Amino acid sequence: MELSQRIVLITGASDGIGKQLAIDLAKRGAVVIGCGRSIERLKEVLKEVRQSSPASAMMGCDVSDQEQVHGMCEKILADFGRVDILVNNAGIGMRQPFADMPLATIEAIIQTNYLGAVYCTHALLPSMIARGAGHIVNISSVAGKIGTLNMAAYCASKFAMNGWSESLYHELKPLGVKVSVVCPGPVHTGFNRNFPNSQPQSPESLFVSPDAVSAAIIRVIERNRAEHIMPPTLALLSWIKQAAPGLFRYFAQRHFRSHVVVPIRERA
Ligand SMILES: NC(=O)c1ccc[n+]([C@@H]2O[C@H](COP(=O)([O-])OP(=O)(O)OC[C@H]3O[C@@H](n4cnc5c(N)ncnc54)[C@H](OP(=O)(O)O)[C@@H]3O)[C@@H](O)[C@H]2O)c1
Repeated sequence: MELSQRIVLITGASDGIGKQLAIDLAKRGAVVIGCGRSIERLKEVLKEVRQSSPASAMMGCDVSDQEQVHGMCEKILADFGRVDILVNNAGIGMRQPFADMPLATIEAIIQTNYLGAVYCTHALLPSMIARGAGHIVNISSVAGKIGTLNMAAYCASKFAMNGWSESLYHELKPLGVKVSVVCPGPVHTGFNRNFPNSQPQSPESLFVSPDAVSAAIIRVIERNRAEHIMPPTLALLSWIKQAAPGLFRYFAQRHFRSHVVVPIRERA
């Protein structure tokens, strides 16, 4: 897909991967609309994005709030006429034993990572189907391929996103709407700020940069790839897990067991 003059909505564009993608897509000539909750950070990103793409815009929106998403999408369709590419990127995480994780945290993770993407897609899909064109790009995670201890809620949100993306792919392809899912491993962003010293920490060798993830997302759009897992080591592990789940579980359990934390309730 040629990106010049395409209208792209990126959720979670105020920081991290979404911010980098907004800047990179603007440089390719796309009209970028970004959203997030932090208006101050969005203003900073907009300054940078408008250097390459003056028609771009940023909007305050909490994607976990269905009403706000509906209002944002109505305004975008009124002001810009269409959305060619929707990148469902906004996300939060927490690393904590499941038994200790407050239900409010679990609900916020599912509401933001999975339902936030559902709300945006549901609001924009009718206009894409009517035009017989559009591309939905879901930013999932390797945590949506491999369940990791102390990340049960986050993994659940990303497994949901992967299953949803696969279903949508089949449902929408005949209608002219493309669906892709990108699954990065650990990325150097502020994402981990909520759990800096928690276990298990990912080895440095598996980390990728936001630039690399942004470049991969752009390749996925241009080449219309259904799925991309990165880095290659984690793509291989995901494949091994699918091919030999029992063997994978045996070795994963051996690796993870040194990181088991007895929940606070049991320790009291
Ligand atoms: N970093 C990693 O290791 C990693 C690995 C694999 C996948 N991912 C996925 O990549 C995506 C981006 O993560 P990142 O690493 O770029 O994280 P980040 O640097 O923390 O950025 C997250 C972005 O999401 C936005 N956001 C969070 N909650 C939101 C809400 N309720 N409504 C609207 N926007 C919201 C944030 O903006 P505001 O705070 O302004 O709302 C921010 O712009 C996420 O879906 C994450 O799960 C990250």
